[in-house]
Amino acid sequence: MGEHLLEIKDLYVQYNTDDATVYAVNGMNLTLDKGEVLGMVGETGAGKSTTALSILQLLPPKVGEITRGSITYDGTDILNAKAQVMRGLRGARIAMIFQDPMSSLNPILTIGQQIHEVLELHFPSMSREEMDNRVDEILGLVGIQKHRKNEYPHQFSGGMKQRIGIAMALVAEPELLLADEPTTALDVTIQAQILQLMKELQQKHNTAMILITHNLGVVAEFCEKVCVVYGGEIIEEGAVEDVFTREKNHPYTQGLFESIPKLTGPVERLVPIQGFMVDPTNLPKGCSFAERCPYATDRCRAEKPGFYMDGTHGIKCFRYENAKGEA
Ligand SMILES: Nc1ncnc2c1ncn2[C@@H]1O[C@H](COP(=O)(O)OP(=O)(O)O)[C@@H](O)[C@H]1O
Ligand SMILES: [Mg+2]
Repeated sequence: MGEHLLEIKDLYVQYNTDDATVYAVNGMNLTLDKGEVLGMVGETGAGKSTTALSILQLLPPKVGEITRGSITYDGTDILNAKAQVMRGLRGARIAMIFQDPMSSLNPILTIGQQIHEVLELHFPSMSREEMDNRVDEILGLVGIQKHRKNEYPHQFSGGMKQRIGIAMALVAEPELLLADEPTTALDVTIQAQILQLMKELQQKHNTAMILITHNLGVVAEFCEKVCVVYGGEIIEEGAVEDVFTREKNHPYTQGLFESIPKLTGPVERLVPIQGFMVDPTNLPKGCSFAERCPYATDRCRAEKPGFYMDGTHGIKCFRYENAKGEA
């Protein structure tokens, strides 16, 4: 048995396409304990979804390839686990809310049938009537009228499909929930309700969770730990209270904080981080953020920084080299 519920060590994932090799995840390390909620933030293309899909062995076959590293879930070596073991984990212990809700929905079954299937798998001793009640209840909780349970996925809007995907993940009462931008497609009021619901269920069942989001406000409210992903690696991590004091941050994280609209000041201002996400088919030799970094030096372009730690707070940037010891 491992110490942690989930441990990802030195993970490298690439996509082998006809045109190029996409280096999507490049030395990812993270741990998660039972009941812990980790926020994962970073721009589109940073490698967040790839990391989540790797945990469930759901990378696209042939194209997606894990080239290095390990993932251990409660003592199980995920990368070498047999298909049957993975089906057991996916079915019963780890649930995922997909960024694209159609990834979790079956177009040829009604949504009621699909939630039923989840219940049959997870709670085989539950009676038919109890299951019916659970289906109605969970649909109600995500704001879908229960009489619509006999409809098919295509009869719902994108936002509704997302909520149905969320219902399916939550009704399973998983030990680990991988929530990949679960509310990005929803409008603001329903977003807040769904997040509140996820929080309640997370606390009730002591669910461990990786919450992938663009929204630092959501991380502050929802998570204990946070990691910031850039170019397929974690460039900053720590307890939310340490990272969010904003005393010390990676220049990229600083940029993320500054790009939050400021509602308190006299003028609402959005400060975007200049430039574009590093090209994952052509990663630089040095720090992957150097090209966009206002503090970059020649050394940053030539050499990769290590993680400089201060308590739980780690920053992969030479600026903090002398803060405390290197991890
Ligand atoms: N099936 C795929 N084939 C080729 N490249 C892919 C595929 N899926 C993702 N990628 C690429 O991998 C990189 C990381 O993507 P992803 O993990 O989806 O990032 P994020 O979830 O942080 O936006 C991106 O450059 C993306 O274009
Ligand atoms: Mg994604």
